[in-house]
Amino acid sequence: MAHEELPVPIYSSLEPVYGEGSPLEEAQIRFQTLKAKFVELFGQEPELYARSPGRVNLIGEHIDYEGYSVLPMAIRHDTIVAIRKHDAGEPQKVLRIGNVNGKYSMCTYPADPNQAIDLKNHKWGHYFICGYKGFYEFAKSKGIDVGVPFGLDVVVDGIVPTGSGLSSSAAFVCSATIAIMAVFSKNFPKKEIAQLTCECERHIGTQSGGMDQAISVMAKTGFAELIDFNPIRASDVQLPAGGTFVIAHSLAESQKAVTAATNYNNRVVECRLAAIVLAIKLGMKPAEAISNVKTLSDVEGMCVKFADSHGYSDPGVAVKELLKEEPYTAEDVEKVTGESLTTIFADSPTSLDVLRAAKHFKLFQRASHVYSEAKRVHVFRDTVLSKLSDEDMLKKLGDLMNESHYSCSVLYECSCPELEELVKICRDNGALGARLTGAGWGGCAVALVKESLVPQFILNLKEKFYHLRIDRGVINKNDLGLYVFASKPSSGAAVLKF
Ligand code: GLA
Repeated sequence: MAHEELPVPIYSSLEPVYGEGSPLEEAQIRFQTLKAKFVELFGQEPELYARSPGRVNLIGEHIDYEGYSVLPMAIRHDTIVAIRKHDAGEPQKVLRIGNVNGKYSMCTYPADPNQAIDLKNHKWGHYFICGYKGFYEFAKSKGIDVGVPFGLDVVVDGIVPTGSGLSSSAAFVCSATIAIMAVFSKNFPKKEIAQLTCECERHIGTQSGGMDQAISVMAKTGFAELIDFNPIRASDVQLPAGGTFVIAHSLAESQKAVTAATNYNNRVVECRLAAIVLAIKLGMKPAEAISNVKTLSDVEGMCVKFADSHGYSDPGVAVKELLKEEPYTAEDVEKVTGESLTTIFADSPTSLDVLRAAKHFKLFQRASHVYSEAKRVHVFRDTVLSKLSDEDMLKKLGDLMNESHYSCSVLYECSCPELEELVKICRDNGALGARLTGAGWGGCAVALVKESLVPQFILNLKEKFYHLRIDRGVINKNDLGLYVFASKPSSGAAVLKF
């Protein structure tokens, strides 16, 4: 059976998830500490645990929400959620969410799946509530009766660095959702959990695509995954021998949820506008385009019949000929659509926030990025499957990563000065390719490096990028291992019941 059809695995020991040696020993200590914290806070042991990893995206940035495939792999850093359902006799119907990390104080919420999340008052516990609401919404949509809400005690241990572009939020939302399901003795095919966790993370206010949750739930040790959407599918990609991915933090925090209106959601809105304008220019009626065209991949699919008669079978060519390079004002777009932007986005409060903050819309640049990046993902996968020698293959993959970074930086404008500096240092120090990973505007870069050169490469990055920041007091020398490390493809979500 395809692995996205399988339920989340339930294990009674840590080995299937963490392997052996030092990763296993580190995990044993974390689980002991987590359990001790749980007992300290709630006076009882947790019933079970769920864990879900962060990810690094190798290629395919900002195209998942446009319906295009992406190619990430899970990293070993994960979030573990320990949970206990209150007994029917316990009077308080509350969700108490503690954390082993003293930086995060206990959050308490009512045990009400219909509660609204207070977006103006951002709290770390909100991500748990995304999973909580998501579970009930999903159960309801499937006609599953989960009875009256119970109180829950929860303690979280997350080691995916936050604001790093490595999907700490998806690791948290996925582990929370899976823990809640497990404590209600429910399990579902991974692809359904990937879909549900993607939708429920949107309660936090970002209009994210489904990449992060899909890889967190469906990852397999030893493989990157090509993730397709509509429907969600994961195909294993065996990376070539002799190459290692090194992840390095730019030390600029990428606060996706907080900056959504000007960064992440802004790009989602720009892509939607680009799709509508393109569809109309290709011959679709404005009203039809506004109601049916949601993504740039819809344009590729829905407009074939218009495109063929114009010779635009390649959407990249259509972008060049039909969109203007200068930024569009709201009035420019409204002239084409015949409808005000606030009406087009009337049912999406987070998009209305974008409209309020935006001065103009770079439709040409954003669509050019999306269509070219979507192609690069397939070229990357085809290269991995090709008969090229490992050496040539690694070089080609590195080139594709460099092209992806250029497109993200210049066309999509989701880089930042720190990432630019770091990517350049990676390339100058022997990386075959280097690019920003994740949403960008801070967070990490990922570099493809010949395995034999990795130790020296990491030393060079420390010397050329991090030492200066240690001297300036930005980071602590002892924490360097958190900011720059090599990563192998790790395992996906699991429930642990001992
Ligand atoms: C974030 C989102 C993903 C994806 C990336 C950019 O991580 O959560 O869905 O859009 O940004 O590729």
